[in-house]
Amino acid sequence: MRLDKYLSMGGVGSRKDVKKIIRQKRVTVNGVITVNDDVHIDPYLDEIRMDQQILDVILDVYIMLNKPQGVVSATSDDLHKTVLECIDATLPPGCFPVGRLDIDTEGLLVITNDGELSHRLLSPKHKVDKTYYLECRDAIDERTIDMLQSGVDIDDDTLTLPAQVNQLSESAMNLTIKEGRYHQIKRMLAACGNQVTYLKRIKMGSLSLDDDLPLGQWRYLSESEVEQLKKG
Ligand code: URA
Repeated sequence: MRLDKYLSMGGVGSRKDVKKIIRQKRVTVNGVITVNDDVHIDPYLDEIRMDQQILDVILDVYIMLNKPQGVVSATSDDLHKTVLECIDATLPPGCFPVGRLDIDTEGLLVITNDGELSHRLLSPKHKVDKTYYLECRDAIDERTIDMLQSGVDIDDDTLTLPAQVNQLSESAMNLTIKEGRYHQIKRMLAACGNQVTYLKRIKMGSLSLDDDLPLGQWRYLSESEVEQLKKG
């Protein structure tokens, strides 16, 4: 992150004020005076001081992980590797995965410390679309498509909300749902007499899984991706 951005996020002043303060040699990075406002710092590792006082800015973190199988969507676990352990960077305290993917589900998982955004994406009230690519044991027939599109009885109090189906081959489809019930996709297909054999989340709200992000890898979201997600 640029030093001037970090300082202005810390409430020091506008980007213009901050540039002035830096030029006045009032800022040090790891004990060294810097006069460059465009120098890049690591907000979690570098020690930034202004007028000798340490500046500890709590930043919101937004990460896209391409979750591999065998990893659990939790912050700690005695048995399995967690999604947080897939992130080989220093994270501020309070980071967590936004929603859960099953241990054998792959794909898009957002990790953040922004509770408000997480609530926006997960709360049933907001009906945020989540799209999954799935492969099934048996061919997907018309009856299954009709059931998924109109709502399925998965032994909850209510039917699932109508889902969007995009069949890709005899036994593969993209399925978009607006809820996040426990094992929802697997239970929906089971209720249609079929079985999910492979499941991957590819989209959540406005955010698509990056095609260039290998399984198990992660990257920070761009500012515009975060903005779009917040806007819904
Ligand atoms: N639905 C499922 O059944 N499993 C997941 O991991 C996500 C959605």
